[in-house]
Amino acid sequence: MAKHIIELKNIDMSFNGVKVLDQVDFALEEGEVHALVGGNGAGKSTLMKIMTGVYVKDAGEIIFDGCPVNFRSPQDAEKLGIAMIFQEFSLAPTMTVTENIFLNREFKKRNGLIDNRKCAAEARRIFSELNVAMDPDAVMSDLAAGQWQMTEIAKALATDAKVLVMDEPTSCLTESEVGHLFSMIRELKKKGIAIVYISHRMKEIYQVCDRISILADGKNVVTADASEITMEQMIRGITGKNVDRFEWQDRRTPVRERIVLRASGIKTNNRVEHVDLTLHEGEVLGISGLGGSGTSETLRALFGIDPLIEGTLTVNGEEVCFRNPSQAMKKGLALIPEDRREEGLLVDHSVKDNILLPSLDKLSNRVGVVDEKKSVRVVNDWTEELHIKTDSMNKLVRLLSGGNQQKIVFAKWLANQPQIILMDEPTKGIDIGSKAEIMDIIRGLARDGQSVVMASSELAEILAICDRILIMHQGKVIRELMRAEINSEEELQHEIQNF
Ligand SMILES: Nc1ncnc2c1ncn2[C@@H]1O[C@H](COP(=O)(O)OP(=O)(O)OP(=O)(O)O)[C@@H](O)[C@H]1O
Ligand SMILES: [Mg+2]
Repeated sequence: MAKHIIELKNIDMSFNGVKVLDQVDFALEEGEVHALVGGNGAGKSTLMKIMTGVYVKDAGEIIFDGCPVNFRSPQDAEKLGIAMIFQEFSLAPTMTVTENIFLNREFKKRNGLIDNRKCAAEARRIFSELNVAMDPDAVMSDLAAGQWQMTEIAKALATDAKVLVMDEPTSCLTESEVGHLFSMIRELKKKGIAIVYISHRMKEIYQVCDRISILADGKNVVTADASEITMEQMIRGITGKNVDRFEWQDRRTPVRERIVLRASGIKTNNRVEHVDLTLHEGEVLGISGLGGSGTSETLRALFGIDPLIEGTLTVNGEEVCFRNPSQAMKKGLALIPEDRREEGLLVDHSVKDNILLPSLDKLSNRVGVVDEKKSVRVVNDWTEELHIKTDSMNKLVRLLSGGNQQKIVFAKWLANQPQIILMDEPTKGIDIGSKAEIMDIIRGLARDGQSVVMASSELAEILAICDRILIMHQGKVIRELMRAEINSEEELQHEIQNF
């Protein structure tokens, strides 16, 4: 048997009396890639934060390299070579790649000043070992998500990590960036670094992981070799039930003729070059493209975040000129952004406040008093429908798990029943059980006559629910396809890449 580099035994953890980890065991072998999977709120991030010294466990043991250890802080774990890349990036946008990698542990010259050249050289060495082309002098804010990820990894490696935890590393990467990350993971493995890989994308698990541990509701389900457990078994372990992979069903109700949204030749200062699109009543329109093709930016333009410098926009036949999102909201639009934490949530407010925020007008009487009974019902309905895991509707959103925070943004906009919903990567961070349900919800909205524009890099999802698909490249729509014309994910992939 391979040697365990670190072992967690009988770990218990509670927050405010609510138990989130119950007698959990987890062991990591040298040089393996070990998947840690489970539904939103299962306790994956919490377990890893205990292993990396961010949280102090209530009970249990941590054994590193055969010796019991007690971490009181992330520095304690870092000293032993245990590093974690968090679900939310921790880099400073105004600093360079090198500055971020060596933040607070810069190489110093003899006179005590920071040795910038040595830092940059070391950064270059790390990237070249990983076979990654990166400019160490680039400022973070100019870089794409994939490069942020690479920087996070380099930062962890600069500490001489032996154990590296990646918490949903691909949730904001494009297909090609994911491929790159995987080859990097293989390089790390060759160097004997052990990796914990957390993801809700089941296919990825089988692409890079040697072993799989499943956690459900804070308890161990099973640990097995990836070759010994099928995807169906894994999904059953995570969700406790069989989940059909989403299949496209021909719609029973056809898309209506009426156009609810039309963009003609729109251009912004943010990547959108010349976009024409129409959206019909009851239609789900997909937008896809390689990273940086302008899909998110197109949604921003439609929602009044980035002002149009050319072109026109009409909503229900009326020409509009949105100067800000609230003008777009008044015309019945909503945007579910990709970066939920930054743009979509008030994390220091409760679940209830967040869900109700856009709907307060609708829930108030003429003198502005909010109907409390109705409000509670709306919040209960949506937390149930989306299986949002929270011990109370008054819990602060900051304290929910990553995926449950995403679900709150969903609930908040759906509760408001907008006519036109723009969604950017709608299932990012959502567990496999809820993904299929969210797909069903979106289809249901369309059936009821709401219209959806969905930007997504998950082609299986685009194919599962869209009626029509636009493919973007360098800020322009280069192809328009009817869903019925496409036979497979590979075919769509081919359309996107071969331009
Ligand atoms: N600091 C905290 N205070 C209170 N509750 C917390 C805190 N951190 C986590 N929790 C709760 O612990 C449970 C497990 O959360 P955790 O973040 O570990 O889940 P996860 O498996 O990583 O889920 P996801 O896939 O959504 O990221 C959740 O119910 C969450 O609300
Ligand atoms: Mg998590």
